[in-house]
Amino acid sequence: MPQSIGIFDSGVGGLTVVREMRRLLPLEDITYLGDTARLPYGTKSRDTVVGYSRRNSHFLISRHAKIIIAACNTASAYSIDTLSSEFGVPVLGVIHPGAEKAARVTKNGKIGVIATPSTIRSGAYAYAIKAADPSLKAMSASCPLFVPLAEEGWNEDEIALAAARRYLEPVKSHGVDTLILGCTHYPLMKKIISEVMGDGVTLVDSAAETASKTAEFMEKNGLLNPDGGGKERFYLTDGSDSFLKITGRFLGREPAAVEIVDIA
Ligand code: DGL
Repeated sequence: MPQSIGIFDSGVGGLTVVREMRRLLPLEDITYLGDTARLPYGTKSRDTVVGYSRRNSHFLISRHAKIIIAACNTASAYSIDTLSSEFGVPVLGVIHPGAEKAARVTKNGKIGVIATPSTIRSGAYAYAIKAADPSLKAMSASCPLFVPLAEEGWNEDEIALAAARRYLEPVKSHGVDTLILGCTHYPLMKKIISEVMGDGVTLVDSAAETASKTAEFMEKNGLLNPDGGGKERFYLTDGSDSFLKITGRFLGREPAAVEIVDIA
């Protein structure tokens, strides 16, 4: 009997979604897969990302997932429709929750989106924003250096600030009042991003929104497990020290154990 919430990401960034899910659903079992062997997804083509996402989903189903969350923005941008049609469980992503929240909070109708190059190229956020409200305007920018900066722990220093100024000034100059952090790693850069964008710009964190949308969806569809033990299993496809060292930063605490799996 499928029991756990299956969550996957290209690496450890999706642990920001696990952190939020745990807060909202303390009794649910969670199985997390980080495809660290194939990271990054954010520079790869649609076909490659869909192939990886399919493999990740197979693994989660084999670990009894009752629902799959693509916690990776790039995987969500390219593969939700495919996964939904191929797997017999609900598949949710991070794009629509973030876009819908931004559509609710903007006052001037101008929404900025920052994400990986592949997510921006997919047009998925711009599409989801228009779907939420056709009168809204979206301005996008990819910020590829934010991922390594966040992983290095240089998310609040002068190098991050210089990169943020360079990436964000064009979005800021459009007068956006809302900015979607459309990548798993960007919530870790919130302080710097907000310093560059200024107080008048609301930052939308897709991870937090995805967790609350998932909880809502599970409740509506009778998928909650009120007697669950809140067990957690963390799997990575590559176990190099650099990933293991940073899991705590994304999860907000150290995971009890991390198992390395070969899903190729
Ligand atoms: N998880 C990816 C995303 O949210 C960022 C890291 C990567 O490029 O794989 O788009």
